[in-house]
Amino acid sequence: MLLMKCGFLHQTFITTIVLLSTFCKDSNSQFGLKIPGFTINVTTRVTVQRNLCVHIPCTFQIPSIYTLPSNAQGAWLKFNNLQHNVVARKDGLDDPQDKYPRFFLTGEVWKGDCSLRISDAKAEDDSLYTFRLEDRGVPYSFAEVSPKVTVTDLTDTPEISTTGTLVAGERVTLTCTSPGRCAGEAPKITWEGATVRKAMVHRYTIYYGDGTRTYHSNLTFSPSIKDNMEKLLCIVTFTDNLSSKSEIVELEVEDAPPKSTTVCSSMDSKLIAGIIIGNIIILLLAGLGLLFFIKRHMKNAGNRPHESKPQGNESAYQDLHGQSIHTYEKITMK
Ligand SMILES: *[C@@H]1O[C@H](CO)[C@@H](O)[C@H](O)[C@H]1NC(C)=O
Ligand SMILES: *[C@@H]1O[C@H](CO)[C@@H](O)[C@H](O)[C@H]1NC(C)=O
Repeated sequence: MLLMKCGFLHQTFITTIVLLSTFCKDSNSQFGLKIPGFTINVTTRVTVQRNLCVHIPCTFQIPSIYTLPSNAQGAWLKFNNLQHNVVARKDGLDDPQDKYPRFFLTGEVWKGDCSLRISDAKAEDDSLYTFRLEDRGVPYSFAEVSPKVTVTDLTDTPEISTTGTLVAGERVTLTCTSPGRCAGEAPKITWEGATVRKAMVHRYTIYYGDGTRTYHSNLTFSPSIKDNMEKLLCIVTFTDNLSSKSEIVELEVEDAPPKSTTVCSSMDSKLIAGIIIGNIIILLLAGLGLLFFIKRHMKNAGNRPHESKPQGNESAYQDLHGQSIHTYEKITMK
């Protein structure tokens, strides 16, 4: 009887949720209606610079009476006035990158992961976003937390690898790295400066496991002494023609040292090493000699028990006497 009552309550609960969620499919997000058991963990505020990207970690829970199938669908919606448009959807069928190239639902929906990535952020992305679970069994908009994405001006700049002092005639490679680690379109990287004319430019991309990448450009050249104090910078231009300049690098080039100097300095170091080793050997020998001397002294002292209690002048004489013997022994030993 109790079991039946519980079963009935359970049934009613499910029916209520299903009815509510079906009824609210389009309105619960708008009115922020919350059904118990449905929760979402996501930040409320995100800031991204124009042309860069942002990853928004997100997880959600549904009442434990539901289990999501492995092809569970979900979508992120963007609010424009009272409208909401899907910007990213994962349905396991279409490649979401094709329809919504800059928004990507990175999370596995059936595991309760609703993480979102925005690439190449544009001014119009500045908005509120809501995650909607679109599984047939439990359609539900998690409208109680809608992250607000704020798009700011691009302030990050490309960076040129540090150079140090360059040596005339020695080939060098400087690397310019575009800001951000994104999944969007590759920006254009250009170099400016007198040195660029004689340089080789090689651009490349580094791919990371999570689908993001960084963009780089190598500038390879052999500096001459005339390049000293030359200025160099790199400029990254994004797909919307907005660009960002690196800090200006001033080249520091010095003459290559003459060959003889190199030989001389290497000989110097050998000489120093030789002196150090020689000193160590001398010290070792001196130490051994001292040890030998002490050993002998102790042996002699033990051999003369009748002299162990010297007094007054006699003792001074005996000490002196002993010393002279040792000195003599040492000399003969050598
Ligand atoms: C670019 O330059 C860096 C630094 O010299 C070097 O490690 C890297 O291999 C270069 N990459 C390419 C693709 O030339
Ligand atoms: C960027 O500039 C180029 C020429 O400078 C132009 O052809 C292109 O249409 C511009 N793109 C945008 C998105 O404004």
